[in-house]
Amino acid sequence: MKRILAGNWKMNLLLAEARALFDEVAAGLRGRGDLACVLFPPATLLAPLAAALREGDPRLGAQNCHFEPKGAFTGEISAEQARDAGASHVLVGHSERRRLFCESDPIARQKLQAAWRAGLKPVLCVGETLAERERRETRDVLARQLRRALEGAPSRAPLWVAYEPVWAIGTGVVATAEEVAEAHEWVREELTLAGRGAAGAAGNEVPILYGGSVDAKNAGPLARTPGVDGFLVGGASLKAASFLEIARHLAAGPPD
Ligand code: PGA
Repeated sequence: MKRILAGNWKMNLLLAEARALFDEVAAGLRGRGDLACVLFPPATLLAPLAAALREGDPRLGAQNCHFEPKGAFTGEISAEQARDAGASHVLVGHSERRRLFCESDPIARQKLQAAWRAGLKPVLCVGETLAERERRETRDVLARQLRRALEGAPSRAPLWVAYEPVWAIGTGVVATAEEVAEAHEWVREELTLAGRGAAGAAGNEVPILYGGSVDAKNAGPLARTPGVDGFLVGGASLKAASFLEIARHLAAGPPD
């Protein structure tokens, strides 16, 4: 399995800046067949970036989608529309969506179903808050989020999971290698229970990415952490230099 580098641009960049960043990242990754890269720009930038895509460029993903295919949902974008605009992937259940826009596990479940219906590959984001970690509930929280979101999911539907502890997102506080390894193991166990196969099961393998304050400095040790199949990077994906440095670490450091 190729290691995965995903960049979540969140609500940043205008078209000219996005084009320049995309081109720099694409040029830096050219010939780097050992990594799969997906960038998640704001929805308004999907179509113009997709129009200029060249073979071997990073793929594009939407940061969100509505779960209905169409209808009276002012301000929303369907999975079909995201796909039509050039997305191949979509983030589901990002902690900012959960926290700031009240998205629950059942909504994440409906969005996963919508993504599959539209032919998008969903990246399901899970993770505990600081209070939950302090109460030693991390394992239960991850199990609950995964179980509820994956209820009724077809066993071979394409899926990536991102473990993103809420307290590490955008804070500069990164989880330790031990915390990441342990959480990834719990996620893997839960995926196996959900019939999504242990690592290595042909055609059924779900990569698990780590996200939360990954940057050029901490990416090396994190990339060598067992169970880490890639990264979902926010802030450090907005500068080509830091993103490409993270890519270098990821390509260089698979676990032994
Ligand atoms: P961060 O964001 O790298 O800025 O912490 C990660 C994410 O939200 O996916």
